[in-house]
Amino acid sequence: MEKPQGIPPSWRKEAAAAVRSRTGLQPKVGIILGSGLGPFAEEIQGATVIPYAEIPHFPVSTVPGHAGRLVLGRVEGVPVVAMQGRVHAYEGYPLAAVAFPVWVMKELGVETLIASNAAGSLNPDYHAGDLMLITDHLNFVFDNPLVGPNDDELGPRFPASDLAYTPELQAVAREAAAALGVPLREGVYAWIRGPIFETAAFCRFLRQAGADAIGMSTVPEILAAVHCGMRTVAISCLTDELRAKDEPPLTHEEVLAVAERVGASFRSLLKEIVRRLA
Ligand code: HPA
Repeated sequence: MEKPQGIPPSWRKEAAAAVRSRTGLQPKVGIILGSGLGPFAEEIQGATVIPYAEIPHFPVSTVPGHAGRLVLGRVEGVPVVAMQGRVHAYEGYPLAAVAFPVWVMKELGVETLIASNAAGSLNPDYHAGDLMLITDHLNFVFDNPLVGPNDDELGPRFPASDLAYTPELQAVAREAAAALGVPLREGVYAWIRGPIFETAAFCRFLRQAGADAIGMSTVPEILAAVHCGMRTVAISCLTDELRAKDEPPLTHEEVLAVAERVGASFRSLLKEIVRRLA
């Protein structure tokens, strides 16, 4: 039987070389902008914008609300590379493709990953429009982007993940939120594959399992980042909450509308976190 192949290391090097051919900026912080949160990229000064389709091997988002562009420039003087939109497991991409942009960021010199997403609240005290710092996750996809041959150049075969959300950066996020007066919830994010929004019964089950929020992203990128030695911090924008039986079902349009509404406080919080990372 043949050995499994995985994504060749040359792919991330080729992708990084294509990015470097467009800008001399060496990003230290990587930012993933989730559903409806892409407008943060307007905060990036001296931006070089590269559509994913122009980067070799880069996966292209297929969902509304995900522009599909890499934006390199400075936020508060800090060199950053931001993803305006990401791809998800539910689009049919293998998890290694979902994580690929993180490996490209590593190749570009990124040391810290800030991830964001739109998520549903499972905690009765957390409401649509709240921001939540992710302190830990539950992986209900039971899969991860490191399955396959290990790339020893990136990290170890068996990485630990209990400190996946870097405690020092959680503290930075709390301090940034407090300084701005932006309320910041915190809790455990449950990752489901989607694209179906889960049933009320499953959401109650996740709540009992200790989850505060549910969503379809972020965990694969965080796991890839931790494996390759990056520090991470992740923020959910809670766009909806458990609904009563007589309420209309959740739609992607509602998720995007709430994420856009919370955009202003998300933007100021993210900017303040980046400023404090400098
Ligand atoms: N469930 C799953 N994913 C989501 C939700 C949700 O309620 N809201 C935003 N993304």
